Amino acid sequence: MTTGKKFNPKKIHKLTDPERKAFQDPDLIWDTLDLTAPEVLIDIGAGAGFFAMPFSDKIPEATVYACDTAPELTGWMEENIPATYEGRIRVIRSEENSVPLASGIADLVYMINLHHELDVPLTMLEENWRLLKPGGCILIIDWKKEETPMGPPVSIRIAQKTVSEQLQQTDFQMVTEHDLLEYHYFVTARKPRP
Ligand SMILES: C[S@@+](CC[C@H](N)C(=O)[O-])C[C@H]1O[C@@H](n2cnc3c(N)ncnc32)[C@H](O)[C@@H]1O
Repeated sequence: MTTGKKFNPKKIHKLTDPERKAFQDPDLIWDTLDLTAPEVLIDIGAGAGFFAMPFSDKIPEATVYACDTAPELTGWMEENIPATYEGRIRVIRSEENSVPLASGIADLVYMINLHHELDVPLTMLEENWRLLKPGGCILIIDWKKEETPMGPPVSIRIAQKTVSEQLQQTDFQMVTEHDLLEYHYFVTARKPRP
């Protein structure tokens, strides 16, 4: 079951708006991650590929799985992601709490502007864990739980502290809150090696 928190695909222009780079710059986000030769990235809640495309540009040899539950958005990505990304970005229709990909394949799993939309965040974090390689990184970026000039209602936003606690509950390690973005928090953590 989905809820009224979900992004309305009719507002896709909000996801493709280049003005977003002023406060959610994919290059800045990428540089902060400091990944070592990643081979597989999984973008959960990829929307219109606003992050999948610039991240793929950084690592042309890698595969970026752009996953979304909304058929309007997976369809949009299939039609509009330029052919230059063929074989590098793979669009995947996922389910609310599961992503149809093999376990232990990802160097980075990221969810950007998604956490407040999740029906069962802990279950989705467990799914992130399943998808990651040992030593792999999870990145969560979402709207700060305070008034900002745009974004979803504050009442449905999830506080950064809650996200960090949920990551710890899911046994992620090195949970780190980065003070980087004006309107968003930015949390990373690692799946430990055995
Ligand atoms: C606010 S949009 C953000 C899109 C993209 N991350 C961005 O920032 O440009 C949230 C996206 O997550 C998708 N979504 C919602 N729940 C999801 C879930 N459980 N798994 C995967 N995608 C989901 C929505 O369809 C929507 O495309």
